[in-house]
Amino acid sequence: MENTKETVLKASRAYYTHMAYYEDLLAQRSRRAAEATRHELDFLEFAFHAHATHQVRDVLDVACGNGRHVVGLAHRGYQCIGLDFTPERVEIAEARAKREGVSVKLLQGDATRLKYESDFDAVLALYILFLLPDDDDVLKCLQQVYRALKSGGVLICNIGNPFFDGKDWFSLKVIHEGHRVSERRVRGMRFTTIDRIQDFDPVHGVAWWQEKSIIEAPDGIHIFRDRERLRLFTYWDILHDLQEAGFKEIKCYTDWKIKPAKKPKEEKLIFVSRKD
Ligand SMILES: C[S@@+](CC[C@H](N)C(=O)[O-])C[C@H]1O[C@@H](n2cnc3c(N)ncnc32)[C@H](O)[C@@H]1O
Repeated sequence: MENTKETVLKASRAYYTHMAYYEDLLAQRSRRAAEATRHELDFLEFAFHAHATHQVRDVLDVACGNGRHVVGLAHRGYQCIGLDFTPERVEIAEARAKREGVSVKLLQGDATRLKYESDFDAVLALYILFLLPDDDDVLKCLQQVYRALKSGGVLICNIGNPFFDGKDWFSLKVIHEGHRVSERRVRGMRFTTIDRIQDFDPVHGVAWWQEKSIIEAPDGIHIFRDRERLRLFTYWDILHDLQEAGFKEIKCYTDWKIKPAKKPKEEKLIFVSRKD
């Protein structure tokens, strides 16, 4: 599969456009999804208090998706800006903020073209780094986030851990099996996802997911075929890039637990980094 920036962005945009509406509907109906988001929001607030040197008020989310974090934080009193590359995601986040009666500024934008300078107490880059087209973009994004933070502010970013012992999207176990089938059910809806993983390059940590999504929704059955190129980062890749971007104080947590990890083998790695 071609690995040019254009191909990668086109594929990712198509996937996130197709899934935007139905994922939001699923999120609205799923108690489990709401609980998972609440748990992540609790972690974010913990990280703000534990790692920023001053009270966090202004927050930027550089790939806000359907707005679950920015809307959740706005409910908790933070001033949030969410941006996302996919216009349909921005529209859905706007509708969500309106529906829930909170004020959030939402913009279409690219996580690798941030123009901010010392504007934010906290920046979120959640479930996004693995989608950026190449390693230069990851570093560019982290450097721009560093610039966007006020001194003493924090970046919270995460990755899936390829060395996780179980079966997750990013685990080497699933990559080596070469396919994955998953199902999510909520009231009146079912998402079945069938993935075939191709062209895995372990040195560069890159693979393509060919994905068929079968969505049984109140308005009928929808089938989408997409492909996404995902980058598998190790703990050391991210640590290295965060340091290159200028961060010195970096802590790694796992699975949204508020205890720093020692030898991170868990499914999700969350990095909290402070700008001096
Ligand atoms: C897996 S979703 C995560 C969304 C959100 N952070 C969350 O946790 O719910 C990834 C999001 O990244 C967005 N995205 C992909 N490439 C981007 C880029 N270069 N800049 C900004 N957003 C991007 C997609 O449109 C999608 O909404």
